[in-house]
Amino acid sequence: MNIPDDLAEALRNARHVAVLTGSGISAESGIPTFREAQTGLWERYDPQQLATPEAFDRDPELVWNWYTWRRELVERAEPSAGHLALVELETLVPDFTLITQNVDGLHGRAGSSRVLELHGNITRTKCSVEGVLVEKYEEDVTPPVCANCGAPLRPDVVWFGEVLPAGVMKDAASAARSCDLFLSVGTSSLVYPAAGLPYEALMHGATVVEVNPDETPLSAEAHYSLRGKAGDCLLALITTAFPS
Ligand code: APR
Repeated sequence: MNIPDDLAEALRNARHVAVLTGSGISAESGIPTFREAQTGLWERYDPQQLATPEAFDRDPELVWNWYTWRRELVERAEPSAGHLALVELETLVPDFTLITQNVDGLHGRAGSSRVLELHGNITRTKCSVEGVLVEKYEEDVTPPVCANCGAPLRPDVVWFGEVLPAGVMKDAASAARSCDLFLSVGTSSLVYPAAGLPYEALMHGATVVEVNPDETPLSAEAHYSLRGKAGDCLLALITTAFPS
């Protein structure tokens, strides 16, 4: 992959780099993205129809079982070359903010030190009514219930139509406004408010770089579009900007 000289220079000179990742970076870890067809047991279902409060109200057992399957996939998965490249990038720039829409926790497992998880984390569970995190629960009913109030438990993730955790979104927006280089990696750039972050960065003068094998609504606005897999593009970008 050929990295333009001026992009390598922009990365080398950047004081603050912000990165937004989406499910494309975990595709190389074997976790299916949200908008590709599912295979096997769940191929009849559309993730966008399962990851909603309405779906959980209608059929909590189905939604819980789908998340159990995703959780097992995540447990078996290993961080990808893209996750590892971002761990390295963090050590190469003075100030670094990693923002993710992914709920799989793979950035943390790869070794990234601080991750702004906009959509929560699938490994955590909370009460669907009280919102309180729950560590232990009986698994004899599906979904399990809250020991305190008896309401069904649910994954601690943000579903379509739900509000993002305010503090995390505030920190992400502030990073987008103050960075000098913004990387959008493996996201379809369709789901707001996360999809608004690169535009925030553009408005505040940052160089915006997209990494995605396919075109997205951001492609026309980004200064650079690296067309390829997250791992390949990020490695090429880092080794070109910081030759050892
Ligand atoms: N490297 C980089 N990008 C990839 C790769 C790869 N190896 N494989 C696929 N992609 C790209 C696809 O081209 C697509 O644009 O990753 C993107 C994945 O898009 P989505 O499935 O829409 O995932 P994402 O953008 O993370 O979704 C945002 O929507 O479903 C909700 O809350 C959920 O966090 C999710 C949010």
